Amino acid sequence: MPEVIGTIDDLRNRLGETRDRAAMVGGDTRVVLIPTMGALHDGHMALIRRAKQLGDIVFVSIFVNPLQFGVGEDLDRYPRTLDADLHALAAEGVPFVFAPSAREMYPAGTNDTRVVAGPVGSLYEGAARPGHFDGMLTVVAKLLNIVMPDAAVFGQKDAQQVFLVQSMVADLNVRVAIEVVPTVRETSGLALSSRNRNLDPAELEAAAALYAGLTKAQLAAADGPQAALAAAHAIIDAQPLVKLDYLVVVHPQTYRSVEPDYRGPARMLVAAIVGSTRLIDNFSLDLA
Ligand code: PAF
Repeated sequence: MPEVIGTIDDLRNRLGETRDRAAMVGGDTRVVLIPTMGALHDGHMALIRRAKQLGDIVFVSIFVNPLQFGVGEDLDRYPRTLDADLHALAAEGVPFVFAPSAREMYPAGTNDTRVVAGPVGSLYEGAARPGHFDGMLTVVAKLLNIVMPDAAVFGQKDAQQVFLVQSMVADLNVRVAIEVVPTVRETSGLALSSRNRNLDPAELEAAAALYAGLTKAQLAAADGPQAALAAAHAIIDAQPLVKLDYLVVVHPQTYRSVEPDYRGPARMLVAAIVGSTRLIDNFSLDLA
């Protein structure tokens, strides 16, 4: 089983010892962090496998960050499955898990100092979840400062999160490489997410419409952004259990909606409520 480390001091000591030991035998001293909120699934395992290619000292953090949940959101309902997570991590040979308490991360109950996500942080997921991205970036910045990894690994499923983490790292000159791993999917195409376990069988089936819509959009992308949007709408809007929140085509470098006459690389972002569960997904598009 991985060693579970609960305090920042213990983590830093452990990290120092592990690095020293590796250096002594001429081994790889690169540290790779995989920040998670637990409830691990195969998507996380893909992040771990990539992390192991990037460095020998792999740390997984498990922390359900209260700062990134708004009032009335699913903080209390968010699945917490530490035992199962540790077994899954043991199977992947992960030696260390950093699982701090909320008090360890926020001794004063919260952080007065926050990372502000900027204008893109208020769009799409940020419009539906005000303050979410400031809370997410704040904890990611804290984790990067605590672990000081050479690389940190994130999943492409949370595309806007990845964009904002990359922007923060560039804007604040954080010395870390951000590695992005493709989305892992169910056989239905539904993107794996810790929240999928909240879906009943009918909702699970309906949720696959997001993937189906994105796939149709990719096929229609040669005719431009409007055609891609129409193709995705036709599939998603026809599914009564799926309540679409947003469907947008954004520029990969700015994350702003593209103009109807835009041609070039883009990303389609989608979010919907299925039952009472919020799901997101995205695909890259080549708008010819
Ligand atoms: O994607 C997540 O699980 C979380 O947003 C993260 C990056 C672990 C920060 O809490």
